[in-house]
Amino acid sequence: MKQNYNTMYQLEQVGKTVTLFGWVAKKRNLGGLIFIDLRDRSGVIQLALKPEDQAYSIAESLHSEDVITATGTIIERASKNQNLVTGDIEVEVTSLTVLNRAQELPFEIKNDTTALEETRLMYRYLDLRRETLKHNLLMRHRITTSIRTYLNELNFVEVETPILCKSTPEGARDYLVPSRVNKGSFYALPQSPQLFKQLLMIGGMERYYQIARCFRDEDLRADRQPEFTQVDMEMSFVNEEEVRAMTEGLLQKVMKDTLGLEITVPFPTMRYSDAMNYYGSDKPDLRFGMKLRDMTSLFHQTTFSVFRNILDDHGVIKGIVVREVANSYSRKKIDGFTTYVKRYGASNLAWLKYQEQTFTGSIAKVLSEEEQAALVRDYRLQDGDMIFIIAGKPSMVNTALGELRLHIGKDLDLLDPNEYQFLWVVDFPLFEYSEEDGRYYACHHPFTAPKDDSVAHLLTDPGKCYAKAYDVVLNGYEVGGGSIRIHQQEVQQKMFEALGMTPEVIDEKFGYFVRAFGYGTPPHGGLALGLERLTMLICKTDNIKDVIAFPKTASASDLMSESPNLVDPKQLEELHIAVTK
Ligand code: AMO
Repeated sequence: MKQNYNTMYQLEQVGKTVTLFGWVAKKRNLGGLIFIDLRDRSGVIQLALKPEDQAYSIAESLHSEDVITATGTIIERASKNQNLVTGDIEVEVTSLTVLNRAQELPFEIKNDTTALEETRLMYRYLDLRRETLKHNLLMRHRITTSIRTYLNELNFVEVETPILCKSTPEGARDYLVPSRVNKGSFYALPQSPQLFKQLLMIGGMERYYQIARCFRDEDLRADRQPEFTQVDMEMSFVNEEEVRAMTEGLLQKVMKDTLGLEITVPFPTMRYSDAMNYYGSDKPDLRFGMKLRDMTSLFHQTTFSVFRNILDDHGVIKGIVVREVANSYSRKKIDGFTTYVKRYGASNLAWLKYQEQTFTGSIAKVLSEEEQAALVRDYRLQDGDMIFIIAGKPSMVNTALGELRLHIGKDLDLLDPNEYQFLWVVDFPLFEYSEEDGRYYACHHPFTAPKDDSVAHLLTDPGKCYAKAYDVVLNGYEVGGGSIRIHQQEVQQKMFEALGMTPEVIDEKFGYFVRAFGYGTPPHGGLALGLERLTMLICKTDNIKDVIAFPKTASASDLMSESPNLVDPKQLEELHIAVTK
């Protein structure tokens, strides 16, 4: 078996005869001398051939991405290349064999490629030869290795759970798989191994983990794929703090093993309500400040009719203060921000510039003297500061202003990819009410334990119940989430009832699970990390596809293998399925 690789050779090995394998990354012919950059997974080494060499004619015939093997002697280079790990040496080739020729490529294999993403996804195996993607996959491997080492040392057991599961539509839409043997029945692909990991606790495993593939048929975004990977964990006899401490230790080790970074633990915690109020998001990016300020009371006597109407309608007025941009932010730029916040439901964006102790801007004329003084005093305005304000329903204002905060943060280059700000978001509500459906839904899932003092209110006042749930947030991404689970049958029953499920529905959907609760269920809790999201942040990319070997497009297709595809009518017949037009 081949044990050597390109980048293991340095000046110390000068004089050594080596046999190398790899792809032709580049070929140059300089006044008769041929230089070949030979690439393998580890990197590039230079091969050199002179016209009198036996292998010269083969070298002349080589094209990019041909696969070759070369034998030769390591020599010191006359002109060294500081940019290459092997830049001090080259290999004087004595024999060269072409193992396989490559056809003309659909795009050049280079890091700063301009090839369309579509083309690169069609030829993903070629794209994987690029340094960036290779680096990301190797990093992903380092992350999972580090995770496994940590969890194994803490006595966690890796257990695999089924992929063909029971469909229990809560949360995202299921991917369904028809059963041939059971006519008309379907399996669902797991959205997460949630119930199985809880059953493993009932089964006495005590500490479980799995690097588990999950499937969710939901609208895709830059940080979402229909199939993704969770580092799924569950522990018996633990409380919230213990699960969080275990997770912090894990993330601390991963950051150290991959980036050499020392991350401070414990991570800060923030209540869900504070996250929403101050950052307009349940996953605040703490790499910069620019908190959302509630200006409702400051404007309580406003005569500006737009604000007045919103206040009379129980709305709120909130703003962000952006320091030292009044001179540089043009009208065009501000109009761009207005268009941006409209995407999130804001009807308008009010703005003020504070320069030479005077306010200008869209609402400058409607400000009373008291309001002006209050703005300067409360927000410690300095010459050159700006304020952006949105008024309306609280949820819309938080979202739109939270998004604007991030947009401006990016614009001002405040999001340093080398800075890692972890945060726990805690004290989530247990339920959220859907106006549309006129019922409560579980904020996380129906197995999340209520806070002890919420148990009594499950049926009487669901809106006031809080959950023993926690999300771990990193630089504005939710990289993980979990909770302490309900382990008492009565509480689980109440929870189902609060969600408006009849005993028949409960039995049909979760009967097997509820039954298991009657046979000695240990208190337990856990968490799942989104492996791709964590890897994205470690690899400093904002595109989830960059950390997946064979990702799907936004329309959930694989351009390389052309899936999903139409199938043979015979297959459908066997599955008792008819496709409607
Ligand atoms: P949750 O649904 O929060 O929790 O998922 C856990 C983490 O998985 C990641 N994630 C995704 N990553 C990429 N693409 C997606 N479509 C996607 N959806 C989720 C996120 C998220 O934080 N069973 C519970 C966990 C538990 O309670 O232990 C669960 O699945 O990073």
